[in-house]
Amino acid sequence: MEKVIIDVDTGIDDALAILYAVKSNKLDILGITTVCGNVPIDLVTVNTKKVLKLLDSNIKVYKGASQPLLREPFYEFRVHGDNGIGGTLNDIEVSSEIEDLSAVDFIIEKAKQFKGELSLVTVAPLTNLALAIRKEPKIVEWIKKVVIMGGLVSEAGTGNTLPTSEFNIFADAEAAKIVFHSGIPMTLVSLDVTRKGMLTEKHIEQLKGSPFYEFVRDSTEVFRTFTYENYGENGCALHDPLAVAVLIDEGLVQTKEVYVDVETKSELSYGQTICDFQNLLGKEPNMKICLDVDHETFLHRFIEYLKR
Ligand code: RIB
Ligand code: CA
Repeated sequence: MEKVIIDVDTGIDDALAILYAVKSNKLDILGITTVCGNVPIDLVTVNTKKVLKLLDSNIKVYKGASQPLLREPFYEFRVHGDNGIGGTLNDIEVSSEIEDLSAVDFIIEKAKQFKGELSLVTVAPLTNLALAIRKEPKIVEWIKKVVIMGGLVSEAGTGNTLPTSEFNIFADAEAAKIVFHSGIPMTLVSLDVTRKGMLTEKHIEQLKGSPFYEFVRDSTEVFRTFTYENYGENGCALHDPLAVAVLIDEGLVQTKEVYVDVETKSELSYGQTICDFQNLLGKEPNMKICLDVDHETFLHRFIEYLKR
């Protein structure tokens, strides 16, 4: 099974990504690392532990960066609710104990231990991975690949933070720039494809009988309401679960090797992922971007896995 570390800012769709990853029974999840993103780091960490308790899982959680490299944190309580998981799991008690190893040191340690075998799925701002690259540059040779939920490649102007920017990249564009230029093999699972995998009430009803039915229904209510009020669409995008699904089966998406850079200077387009489709810059491609997705198969798997 693929050895993986999942980097999260739990968050509603991060929680669903953890459910998908564990219930797929296709990943050897070495640990989950947390980072400041949707909500503050302590809440991210508690939420992640609560989701793992809901799963009755003993996967360990490693606390990471409490703020972006340079910018102030940009929280998204509007989307994820006051507690970061749509107001759910308040009845689940978890210890406030954290592992001695930081998220950054855990990533470095496991990359060194499993040279060429360890993959990462990052469904959050890239602060932890950027700090790990800075602390131990050799990890760029040791890490097998990174699947990143982030960015916007073809549909500029339809961002979810600035018109041209997606949250995970916008929240720490300097960190994303370090990762994008690192040389690690990577696949960018951007809004262009994650928005095609909308979880609707119909899908949620199909989850009846799953031990996670109530959690998915209740936790996504805030997210679904936000999506309808802001974009007029019913349902919520399964951004983070799709990144996990792509690590498991890249055949779900149509990819293209492209040179992608990140805007870190502009106030108007900070965090934009700029894809050089026509190779105007004459630079070697540094990642695979996703141009299309078989969202029906993905959603079918999401429901199938959570009903196990
Ligand atoms: O833009 C969507 C991404 O930002 C998702 O990872 C969501 O959880 C937020 O972190
Ligand atoms: Ca996330």
